[in-house]
Amino acid sequence: MLTAIIVAAGSSQRMGFDKLFALLGDKPVVAHTLDAFERAGCTDEIILVGRADRVAELQELVISAGLRKVRHVVSGGVQRQDSVRVGLSLLAPDSRFVAVHDAARPLITPGQIARVLEECRVHGAAALAEPVTDTLKRADQDYFVCGGVDRAGLYAMQTPQIFSRDILLEAYEVVAAKKLSITDEVSAVELLGQKVRLVPNDEFNLKITYPGDLFLAESFLSRRASS
Ligand code: CTP
Ligand code: MG
Repeated sequence: MLTAIIVAAGSSQRMGFDKLFALLGDKPVVAHTLDAFERAGCTDEIILVGRADRVAELQELVISAGLRKVRHVVSGGVQRQDSVRVGLSLLAPDSRFVAVHDAARPLITPGQIARVLEECRVHGAAALAEPVTDTLKRADQDYFVCGGVDRAGLYAMQTPQIFSRDILLEAYEVVAAKKLSITDEVSAVELLGQKVRLVPNDEFNLKITYPGDLFLAESFLSRRASS
């Protein structure tokens, strides 16, 4: 059984307004994200972690969209990892695999979710990742280039990231014990020495961050709908 924890408790500081409720086509960003997991045959339950002041609206959205896999809608924490931890505390007893996904990535598809789960079943840990295509440079504090970074073998981490339940729970215990700050779950399970299999993604899985991203995502979705 696969549980998806959708983290939606951020403060959208770079956007300037709650990006997860911004409309993309006919529905809010977060509704697109939830819809993909609802449609993914491999997902059994969804735990939605939102901002305390938005939980009631998220509950309404879940009901009005008829999202039957959503078992919990709860408030998150100050850091993303605190929100994930709330989700982990609510896993159904029989859930064997756990996916963590950013609500801010609404372009995710059931096919991509299934591909990551397939790799997780074999390796215990897998994450969607984008091969780096830009030329990378390191710069000093005054923005003067001071060296290059070979991009071969470099990937930008995306979500979903999917793990065997025990691996992810143990990794989060280490994070808590060592009081570490992490920005994704791959960074947590690496602490266990656990191998993580990347699933290179050549499809667009944008994380909505800045206002321009909403336009990009909207035009991508309308093209996808008409193709
Ligand atoms: N998130 C969360 N709880 C937090 C912080 C982030 O659940 N305390 C979620 C966000 O809602 C988002 C995902 O983690 O779906 C990735 O975070 P990010 O894109 O950085 O969103 P925000 O933190 O909301 O944006 P910003 O950093 O610009 O404030
Ligand atoms: Mg953030």
